[in-house]
Amino acid sequence: MNLILLGPPGAGKGTQAVKIVEKYDVPHISTGDIFRKNIKEGTPLGKKAQEYMDRGELVPDSLVIEIATDRLTEDDCKDGFLLDGFPRTVEQAEALDKFLAENGKKVDWVLDIDVAKEELMTRLTGRRVCRNCGASYHVVNIPPKQEGVCDECGGELYQRADDTVETVENRIEVYNSQTKPLINYYEEIGNIAHLDGAAPLDEVFAEIVKVLGE
Ligand code: AP5
Ligand code: MG
Ligand code: ZN
Repeated sequence: MNLILLGPPGAGKGTQAVKIVEKYDVPHISTGDIFRKNIKEGTPLGKKAQEYMDRGELVPDSLVIEIATDRLTEDDCKDGFLLDGFPRTVEQAEALDKFLAENGKKVDWVLDIDVAKEELMTRLTGRRVCRNCGASYHVVNIPPKQEGVCDECGGELYQRADDTVETVENRIEVYNSQTKPLINYYEEIGNIAHLDGAAPLDEVFAEIVKVLGE
C-alpha cells in the first residue's frame, strides 16, 4: 500500500502515522523528521534545511525531491510506504509520480486530513514531541501520563522550534498557497480521501481504516 498523508501543519499527520504504521506495517517517511534528524546531527543537509524551517518556509523542491526519492528506493519500501509531509508542492507531486511510474508503482491513497486554522494554532503551540521516538503529545488534548515524559519509551518531551505563534502563522499561509493546490491535483487523479481531522484521534483513525480497508 503506497500512501500519502496530506494536511496543514498540526492536522495530525504524525499522530495518525503512528497508528497506520502499527496496523498496516508500512514504513513512515516524514520529510520533516528527516530534516530535524539532520539538524540535530549538524549535517550539511541539516544546515541548509534549518534556515527555511525556522521561518516556516518550504525547503527548496530540488533538495526535498532528492531526499524523498532516495528514501523510497530503500528495501523496506518495496511493499508499500507512508509519506508524511511529502509531497508539499505540485512540482514535488509530479516528481513523485514520475519516480513511481519509472518503478512500476503508483500512489494508492492520499489521506487529506483537514482542521480549521484556530484549532491548528492551539494544537501546535501545545504540542510536545519525544526526543527519542518522535511520538507527539498535546499538553491538554493528548497529555502524557507523566508530564515531560514519553509514554511509549520514557524519552524526554520537547517543544519544536517552529511551534511558535509567528512561525505557525507562516506555516499555515505557506500550506494554503503552496500545498493546498495538491488537493485538486489528486482530485483529478481520483485517489484522495477527505477526513475530518477535528474529530478525536481514534475517530479519525477509524475513518482512515474505512478508506484503506481492514
Ligand atoms: P513537518 O515536520 O512535516 O511539519 P508540518 O507539516 O508543519 O506538520 P506537523 O508535523 O507540524 O503537524 P502534524 O500534522 O504531523 O501534526 P501532529 O500529529 O504532530 O515539516 C516541518 C518543516 O519541514 C516545514 O515547515 C518545511 O520547512 C520542512 N519540510 C518538510 N517537508 C517538506 C517538503 N515536502 N517540502 C518542503 N519543505 C518541507 O499533531 C499536532 C498536535 O495536535 C499534537 O500536539 C497532537 O497531539 C495533537 N493532535 C493530533 N491529532 C489530534 C486530534 N485528533 N485531536 C486533538 N489533538 C490532536
Ligand atoms: Mg508531523
Ligand atoms: Zn518516545
